[in-house]
Amino acid sequence: MRKETAGFIFEVYDSIAHLDGKDALLLESAKVATAHAYAPYSGFSVGAAALMGNQVIITGTNQENASYPAGLCAERVLMASAASQFPGVNIISIAVSYSGKGVNSDHPVSPCGICRQVLTEIENRQNSPFRIILAGMEGPVYIIPSAESLLPLAFKGDELA
Ligand code: THU
Repeated sequence: MRKETAGFIFEVYDSIAHLDGKDALLLESAKVATAHAYAPYSGFSVGAAALMGNQVIITGTNQENASYPAGLCAERVLMASAASQFPGVNIISIAVSYSGKGVNSDHPVSPCGICRQVLTEIENRQNSPFRIILAGMEGPVYIIPSAESLLPLAFKGDELA
């Protein structure tokens, strides 16, 4: 099914069971990774996973801090890890999931604005879009075609002298 929000089109699947094998494995990796989040302040554990062009899957999780703004979202941890561990290797797709005590993890949540900015720069840097798979521990799955589609009119480095 195709869904549209404010002119933005993405794929919606009823559950992980409807994904192809590679996407299902990537989403499962993100779900498993939530267990490695450090989220003592919000209680909201986020797991992210990336399928790299060399077929390796890497993960990232949110890492909070007593100085709250020092905390990092799972997506940005994942992007830093991808660029550090596999420089020059493209990201094909990422998946993001979440869990938490009292959290109803039955619908997709989407990356925050700061992460969209970071995802977009990595995508532009590799000169190739990557897909973004979003889902809770259960329930529907969204597949977004690119990072930039989540951030229209993005501010980019080519504005800088
Ligand atoms: N968080 C993420 O890791 N990714 C998102 O897409 C949204 C929010 C984290 C940040 C913070 O540690 C916690 O979730 C609550 O905002």
